[in-house]
Parts: sequence; structure tokens; C-alpha cells
Amino acid sequence: MTNIACGIDIGGSGIKGALVDLTSGEFIGERVRIETPHPATPEAVAKTCVEVLSQLQAPADVPVGIAMPAPLPQGIVPFMANLDASWEGVHAQSMYESFLGHPVTVLNDADAAGLAEAVFGAAQGQDGLVIVTTLGTGIGSALIYRGVLIPNSELGHLEIGGYDAESRASAAQRVKQDLGWKKWAKRLQKYYSHVEMLFSPDLFVVGGGVSKNSDKFLPLLSLRTPIIPAQLRNRAGIVGAAVAADRANQ
Ligand code: BGC
Repeated sequence: MTNIACGIDIGGSGIKGALVDLTSGEFIGERVRIETPHPATPEAVAKTCVEVLSQLQAPADVPVGIAMPAPLPQGIVPFMANLDASWEGVHAQSMYESFLGHPVTVLNDADAAGLAEAVFGAAQGQDGLVIVTTLGTGIGSALIYRGVLIPNSELGHLEIGGYDAESRASAAQRVKQDLGWKKWAKRLQKYYSHVEMLFSPDLFVVGGGVSKNSDKFLPLLSLRTPIIPAQLRNRAGIVGAAVAADRANQ
């Protein structure tokens, strides 16, 4: 029998979900995307997830993984940088379970992307420490040591040169500040050099939508550590959330 879980990825502009075949990492059927409600309060987001599940026609016993743009120690949101601030202090896992009626596992969105890359993508079979970063509205990070995820690392909020790193070097800032690839790469250079100095990783994997243009900026970086684009692209959050849900229910 195929092993299936549902993954949902909560983003600032869209809430995306799919049923995932956990043997291949492929979607089963179509991905569903619904605009993120504004304001993106816990209740409004949970109701949207209910709609995503119903459009996916997810069987009642399928475990659901939900990736969120925040750390989630013990299923609780300690702070929220890029979604509604009313999430702070919310026990996201139990709240989702009460709305969805499925067993729910919550995890950080970059951790989900990292898990997906470790199991099905660019970090598969990689020894040592892999740091997966996602460049989007913010900067997300996942630490994976010998295939095991060390969750909630939040390296996008390192303070570098007096700035919160993501406020200088995220992909959204490149667009907002109208930076060319070269200028943006200078900021990325500062960021990745700093992370490299702190962690001495064996591999950097770069995800987020902008990774489809990785040939425009990765060759401009000079690091000791190999740095490669993610493979799962915009599927990573959903696939990683499904992997986490499956693992939690074994
Ligand atoms: C959040 C992280 C998240 C990242 C990417 C940051 O602002 O604090 O939890 O992983 O954005 O969405």
C-alpha cells in the first residue's frame, strides 16, 4: 500500500497543500492553492487549511503536516516575523487539530524544506552538516546533521553589521530595494560567510522561489563550503511537512 500524508505550506501570499506519496516524494493529484487570508490570524489560517483539505479530498485518517514561517518548539509559536502577530503564544498544533479533525504535526517552513531536500533532494545521502536556507519573504534555515534535522534554527535573524540578516539579504528585499543580482550577491556573500564561520557546514543548499535563478547569483559567491540550489523548488515545504507528519505518526 502507498504510504500517504498531506502537506500544507503556509506562506504570506498563498496556502498550498497536496497529498504526498512518501515513497517517491511526488504529489498525488493536483496541488491546491488558496490565497492567504488577511489578516492571517490563527483562526482564519486554520479555516483556510480546512478548505485546502476538503479540496484535496483527504481521507480522514491521513496525517497532516503543516509548515509555518515561524519556529515551533513543542508546537507553540514563540514569535512571528512575517505573518499576523496574533500567532504569538498560540499552541498551533492543538489549534489546527481542533479545526481539522486530523492528527497534525507542525514544523517550521525551512525545516520542512530541509527535510524534503534531505530525503528526496539535493542533500540526500549527504554526510556531515548541511545547512538549507530558503530565500523568500524572509530567510529560513534548516540544520541537518547526518540526515537528522535540528529544528528551529532561525539563522535568518542573525544580526550582521547591525541588521537583522533577512532585512538585508532576503529575496523579497532584492525586489523591494530593486537590487541587481551583483549587489544582492554582495549581501548574500556577507550572510553566507558569517554562517560558514559560525557552523563550518559541509554543504549549503539554497531554496526558495529565487533558487530557479541560482545561476545568476550562486556563481558570484566565494565560500569554502560548496553551495548548490535546492531540487524540490516550490514543492519542498509541502513534501517536508508530509514527511514530518508521517514520521510523527509511526
Ligand atoms: C521566520 C522563519 C522562517 C523564515 C522563512 C523568518 O522570518 O522567522 O521562521 O522560516 O522567515 O519563511
